Amino acid sequence: MKIILIGFMGSGKSTVAKEISQQLKLPILEMDEIAYQKTNTYNMHELFAKGGESLLRQTEISIAQEYALVKRVVISTGGGVVLTPTTMEHLKKSNGKVFFLNASFPTIADRLKSDTSRPLYQNKIEAEALFCYRQPLYLKYSDYVINVDKKTIQEIAREILEQITMLI
Ligand code: S3P
Repeated sequence: MKIILIGFMGSGKSTVAKEISQQLKLPILEMDEIAYQKTNTYNMHELFAKGGESLLRQTEISIAQEYALVKRVVISTGGGVVLTPTTMEHLKKSNGKVFFLNASFPTIADRLKSDTSRPLYQNKIEAEALFCYRQPLYLKYSDYVINVDKKTIQEIAREILEQITMLI
């Protein structure tokens, strides 16, 4: 089972991926972490300083390509993977099922209000514009939409697992 979690920054992809990988005993792929390894950087600010957003997007393509044939994995993507069609094509290979963790912008803004780790979340106004621009892309690429506002990690994981059980 190849499970791909997409969604805006702060939608809970990493936390939900950990929960699902534990429950299903599947390995986890954290795309941002692999991107640091591949670019010899230790965080997103450093990666952006080295090659800007384009370095991240190129790196995301090669990670998705490397994992295209992996059939047992939970992939926690970076929030911007939907900007690159090639990345999404590779992610969806090997029967990958894409789950969109759909959080409202107020939820995101509340979660990220004191977070300084994300180069593309510098202020609320610009972030909201990015959010609106990306929303149709998340919907376009998702096989399932999971609304996550006001839900616990366990509730979100259970919804995803229910969908997966119906596939088996
Ligand atoms: C980004 C999201 C981040 C990270 C980078 C760019 C984006 O991942 O890949 O800062 O473009 O939305 P998270 O969604 O895990 O924060």
